[in-house]
Amino acid sequence: MKTNRVILAAIATGFLTAIQPLFGAAQAAAQGDPKPVTYANDVKPILDATCATCHNAGKPKAGLQMDSLEGVLKGTKKRQLVAPGKSADSRLVQLVESVAAAAKDPDGQTRALHKKGVKPLTPEQISQLKAWIDQGAK
Ligand code: HEC
Repeated sequence: MKTNRVILAAIATGFLTAIQPLFGAAQAAAQGDPKPVTYANDVKPILDATCATCHNAGKPKAGLQMDSLEGVLKGTKKRQLVAPGKSADSRLVQLVESVAAAAKDPDGQTRALHKKGVKPLTPEQISQLKAWIDQGAK
């Protein structure tokens, strides 16, 4: 009898472990689609405070105007910074992540993809930028 119970417990534990990922998926579905992230509501305030001070219509360093949606999507004279739908391939995300990583590195070994002068964004702000790009950068 005792052995049976041990075996049963083992089976139950294995079963629960196996179906655990399903709980996660159900939970994500219950939370519904993520809230839409838009340039006007969410992204402009972040970029105005972080990039547009140096990259704007009146002072477009590197040909880059970070003070309008058109300017952000256009990028620099040489390249685009945003690949709509693909945050991981977007130079903007790589750049702000490298600045944040460099700011956290006490030894200064991490190289930022931008010369000095860029304020590190919070993880929440970086998530907002990624969500905006992944939702199509509207
Ligand atoms: C303190 C001023 C300042 C701020 C703030 C700033 N930049 Fe720059 N940025 C510059 C200057 C100066 C250059 C070099 C311009 C040149 O060489 O003509 C530059 C160059 C660039 C380039 C071109 C080089 C490359 O790697 O392709 C990009 C892209 C860029 N900045 C993006 C950004 C982004 C994105 C932000 C905000 C997260 C930002 N910058 C914030 C001053 C700034």
